[in-house]
Amino acid sequence: MPFAIVSGANRGLGLELVQQLLSRGWRVIAGCRKTQALRLTELAGAHPGRLHVMPLDVASERSIAAFVGEARIVTDQLDLLINNAGLLVSGEHFGQVNAKSMADSFAVNACGPLLLTQACAGLLQQASGARVANISSIMGSLASTDTFRTPSYAMSKAALNMVTRLLAAELSPQGITVASLHPGWVQTDMGGENATFGVEQAAIALIERILALDASDAGRFIASEDGRELAW
Ligand SMILES: NC(=O)c1ccc[n+]([C@@H]2O[C@H](COP(=O)([O-])OP(=O)(O)OC[C@H]3O[C@@H](n4cnc5c(N)ncnc54)[C@H](OP(=O)(O)O)[C@@H]3O)[C@@H](O)[C@H]2O)c1
Repeated sequence: MPFAIVSGANRGLGLELVQQLLSRGWRVIAGCRKTQALRLTELAGAHPGRLHVMPLDVASERSIAAFVGEARIVTDQLDLLINNAGLLVSGEHFGQVNAKSMADSFAVNACGPLLLTQACAGLLQQASGARVANISSIMGSLASTDTFRTPSYAMSKAALNMVTRLLAAELSPQGITVASLHPGWVQTDMGGENATFGVEQAAIALIERILALDASDAGRFIASEDGRELAW
């Protein structure tokens, strides 16, 4: 039975990704800051022995180390890592952008995925054809940016895309495929109720795209909706 880790798994896309993986027969480690989330508890009850909920703050090296140590107790291999946890600081305008918002966004959106992947590398190497999916955003596309919007988020997702390129270069020779995926505009706390896609619809598209990733996708930036290549 394949094993996945999903970060930021207590709500939004992360929670739905956990549900989609469980329904496909996977075993899942849900990493989150709020491990008591009711929906996760319900899912664990509905899928006995297949969902492990473990504390994870991707902005903390110490938390990442403890999390991976705990993961190693339940599995010695990892087929899929979804770096989903994300932070969007809303309400930023030119003239009042502050250093803390930028630093927090980089810690969660860019540094966290690199550090978590690095800590999971040994587990990923033990699986055959492992994948790392970095949940990025079109907001991180340099080529598509022509307005001053959500700078902390946009800059940190651009950095995440570089993380994808760096990790793909490092891990491809070991048979591990790393890619960036944009899920579209999704109705979550982050995306808001006017977003294009429902969370279940977006998670299904994302999971199908992620499970179809192969070595030829290493280092790519892909829209999960239709698989099109996005401009960096
Ligand atoms: N929704 C969209 O339209 C959209 C579009 C493009 C890309 N994305 C990306 O998709 C991913 C999921 O977004 P979403 O819409 O589901 O957002 P969301 O509803 O705001 O959920 C964000 C998740 O990330 C977690 N998180 C934040 N900081 C964390 C940290 N330091 N450590 C661990 N977990 C942390 C949150 O946990 P807490 O509950 O503890 O805060 C929550 O579970 C993100 O990477 C986002 O950038 C979303």
